[in-house]
Amino acid sequence: MASAKLLLLVATSVLSCGVILADYAPMTLTIVNNCPYPVWPGIQANSGHDVLEGGGFFLPALSHRSFAAPAHPWSGRIWARTGCTGAGEQLHCATGDCGGRLQCAGLGGAAPATLAQVSLHHGNDQTSYGVSVVDGFNVGLSVTPHEGRGNCPVLACRKNLTETCPSELQLRTPAGSVVACKSGCEAFRTDELCCRNMYNSPRTCRSSKYSEFFKRECPQAFTYAHDSPSLTHECAAPRELKVIFCH
Ligand SMILES: *[C@@H]1O[C@H](CO)[C@@H](O)[C@H](O)[C@H]1NC(C)=O
Repeated sequence: MASAKLLLLVATSVLSCGVILADYAPMTLTIVNNCPYPVWPGIQANSGHDVLEGGGFFLPALSHRSFAAPAHPWSGRIWARTGCTGAGEQLHCATGDCGGRLQCAGLGGAAPATLAQVSLHHGNDQTSYGVSVVDGFNVGLSVTPHEGRGNCPVLACRKNLTETCPSELQLRTPAGSVVACKSGCEAFRTDELCCRNMYNSPRTCRSSKYSEFFKRECPQAFTYAHDSPSLTHECAAPRELKVIFCH
């Protein structure tokens, strides 16, 4: 009886192993800093998913870091922190800060920050990805899947919006330099601009003159909570997904 059970267990694990191998090709995640200054990427997994690379690390100008993506479904967001001082448990960033530490370890970043949103290995090994400035903009970025099948375009918000940001959206350092561009929601905190409460549905959550500024500059990016779902792309089994800052 016991050995029959064991056999069954072995058979099921072999089977599920086989299924995993067949469904999910190994994938590499690469984060590139193409900016002329260092960034501290942050990675936040959606609830229940693994923390990758401690959730954050230092990335000098013109360098990259590659690591293996989880071999199972995973979703989350990647952003850049800029203007950081300190180190380790005491890292404070002018933009994208996550609780004042290097490793975000599950925490998200402070707005405004440009986001790469990714969902790996869902459905029939689809990877979906998008660029969002719903929470504002701090650094231009692009997301590029490599060697995938199907609909796998490069998506980007490339312009440096900190240069053109309307003054009421500018985030400035105490010394006065503009380091990021807030969303209308972040700047004014109204239910309407934040698509909260009665404005939290595809019908009532609308673009605003603020989101339209982002849309003009970055048509491929999500600019408000219920922006067109067609901005998310689905690519089958890419071998690598690259997020490039300042590109
Ligand atoms: C973007 O513009 C800001 C404000 O002018 C500047 O400080 C920053 O260095 C620029 N970023 C890049 C990548 O050129």
